[in-house]
Amino acid sequence: QRLLTSADYAAGLRATINPARATPSDMLSGEQTPLEDEETTHFSIIDEAGNRVAVTQTVNLLFGSGLVPPGTGVLLNNEMDDFALQPGTPNAFGVMGYDANAPAPGKRMLSSMTPTFMQSGERVVALGTPGGSRIITMVLLGILGYDAGLDAQAVAALPRYHHQWMPDRIQAESAAFAPDVVQALRELGHTVQLPGEEAEGGRGSSHVWGNLQTVEWRLADNSLHGGSDPRNPVGKAAVETVETVDAAAARARD
Ligand code: DON
Repeated sequence: QRLLTSADYAAGLRATINPARATPSDMLSGEQTPLEDEETTHFSIIDEAGNRVAVTQTVNLLFGSGLVPPGTGVLLNNEMDDFALQPGTPNAFGVMGYDANAPAPGKRMLSSMTPTFMQSGERVVALGTPGGSRIITMVLLGILGYDAGLDAQAVAALPRYHHQWMPDRIQAESAAFAPDVVQALRELGHTVQLPGEEAEGGRGSSHVWGNLQTVEWRLADNSLHGGSDPRNPVGKAAVETVETVDAAAARARD
């Protein structure tokens, strides 16, 4: 199977141009192309047989290394930043690695990616999100949300806050804390960083936090529920009947 190239794409667009006649603009879609994440992505799936996946994949930052080996269509990551170039030197997310994370054979890069399953007598859940070092906290808040009885969509929408040891500060989305809670935290000596406030090291708090995608299978009534982060309109949660490969093959034979 041949991969489509941007030259093929351009040829397709060119074929829509009639050199002998102006194209009325209202024949052209004015729809905006939704922006997809250029960095890390997560999807969660549970199928009718109870199989489940929680997949977080990363190229790290903006379009990874920006390199696609010719003929592959595969964008190479820039995970080198998740290795510790020097012990105790923070990466782009302010996370510090040490000898175990050196860029050397047998060592491992740091990763916050936390694709997660929860399972109890009541439910099975798959969840996860992109978001650098905040991934761990976002997933933990999601788990606590389910434990508190929230449904999948409410879990995806939960306001978020985060502390990662270093830098020593609490970051929070604007809806996370009431003003008196922020004040009380500051009086206790916490540095609280709200959206728009300057960050030193790592990313500012104004960055959109994550894109949590989750599925819950309630065992009591055998129902599936999806939750897709309202912060990122590109994501979608859906419960769908999907034709199995065997059923599709049987239909093709008939
Ligand atoms: O593995 C990690 O923790 C990072 N490479 C994740 C980066 C990330 O989530 C960037 N996304 N928004």
